[in-house]
Amino acid sequence: MKKVIYPKIGGVDSIEILDVEEPRASDGEVVVRVHRAGINFADLMMRQGLYGSNPDFPFTPGYEASGVVTSLGKGVEGLELGDRVIAMTGFGGYSEKVSIPRSRVFKLPDSVTFDQAAAIPVTYGTAYHMLFHLGRISPGDSVLIHHAAGGVGTAVAQLCKVAGASVVIGTASAPKREFVESIGVKFVDRESEDFVKVCKDMTDGKGVHHAIDPVGGRNLMRSYKATRRGGKVYFFGASSAVKGDKRSIISAFRMWLNTPKFNPIKMMSSNKAIFGVHMGLLDDSTIFEGHLTALSKMLEDNEIDPIIDSIWRFERVAEAQMHMHDRKNRGKILLDFAPE
Ligand SMILES: NC(=O)c1ccc[n+]([C@@H]2O[C@H](COP(=O)([O-])OP(=O)(O)OC[C@H]3O[C@@H](n4cnc5c(N)ncnc54)[C@H](OP(=O)(O)O)[C@@H]3O)[C@@H](O)[C@H]2O)c1
Repeated sequence: MKKVIYPKIGGVDSIEILDVEEPRASDGEVVVRVHRAGINFADLMMRQGLYGSNPDFPFTPGYEASGVVTSLGKGVEGLELGDRVIAMTGFGGYSEKVSIPRSRVFKLPDSVTFDQAAAIPVTYGTAYHMLFHLGRISPGDSVLIHHAAGGVGTAVAQLCKVAGASVVIGTASAPKREFVESIGVKFVDRESEDFVKVCKDMTDGKGVHHAIDPVGGRNLMRSYKATRRGGKVYFFGASSAVKGDKRSIISAFRMWLNTPKFNPIKMMSSNKAIFGVHMGLLDDSTIFEGHLTALSKMLEDNEIDPIIDSIWRFERVAEAQMHMHDRKNRGKILLDFAPE
C-alpha cells in the first residue's frame, strides 16, 4: 500500500510517496482503509519544521481520515468490518491504510459522506472549542476571524450563524471578497484595510466580543485592540511564520519576536481574556469527543455543511499543499485515497 512521507524538513518537492507493508491491527486497534484525508495548515508547518509537536522525521502527516474498517484487533468492541468511520489519526492520515486505537475511531451516521467527515474534525472541532466551549458565544455577539475563507474560517462563519452572532468580520486576501461575503461575513482585505477600524466601526466603537487569531506576530496585538472590554481573544496559530513552501527562518523569527507579551494588569483592568488553543495537545480527549458529538448533530440538522475547496488524488499531494501555500483555497482541501 502507499503512504505519503515527509522524509526531512523541506518544501513541497521534498514530499515522497512510498510503497510499504500494510499495517496490522494490534490489540485494541482498528485498521481503516482511507478514502479521504484532510489537509490542514499545520501539515505545511510540520513539513517546514515549524510546528513543534510532530513526530521526528521521517513521518506521515494527516490528523484526520475518513474510510472503512477493514480489520479489528483483539478486544475491539462496537465496530464491525465494513463500518464507515472517521479516524482521528493524530498523525499518519495521508495513507491508504492506517491502524489506530479504537478510542480514536468514530462511526459515521449513514447521511454523512466521506468528504464531509474528513472536512469536519480539525476545522470545526477547533472553531467549536473556541466559540462554544471556551467562549460561550451568545446570540448577538460579534466575532472577528482571520483567514476567513479557509478551513477554520468557513467553519467559524457557519458556527456563528448557529450561535446567532450579530456581526462576523473576516480578513482574507483580495480575490476572496465575493466568496467571503457569500458566507455572510463582512470582508476586510488583509493587505489594504485596517481590520481594527472595521471592527470598531461595526460595533459602536466598542470592538468585537470574540477575536480569533491564527496569524500571530503583530497581528495578535491588533486583534486584541479590535476586541471590546470584557471580550475574548483566541490565539491558535502562527501563519505569519510561513512564507512560501520553503522554510523561512527569518519569517519564523519575526513572528516569534513580534508576538506580544501581554500585561496581566492591563488585561485585568479591561476584563479581557486571551486563550491559547492547541487542539492536538488537549489533555482530556472526552472534551473533543463532546465537540464531535455536538457537531455531528448540527450536521444532521443541516445547520453546518463543510465547504470543500477541492479534492486531489493523493499522488498530487505536493500540488494540493501548494494550492494552500498560494492562498488559493476557499474552504477545505482533501486528499483522495479511495480504491480506484
Ligand atoms: N491551534 C489549533 O489547534 C489549530 C487547529 C486548526 C487550525 N489552526 C490554525 O488555523 C489557521 C487556519 O488553518 P486551516 O487549516 O483552516 O488553513 P486555511 O485557512 O484553510 O489555509 C490557508 C489560508 O490561510 C491564509 N494564509 C495566511 N498566511 C498564510 C501563509 N503564510 N501561507 C499561506 N496561506 C496563508 C490564506 O488565506 P488568505 O491569505 O486569503 O486569508 C490561505 O488560503 C492556521 O494558522 C492553522 O495553523 C490551529
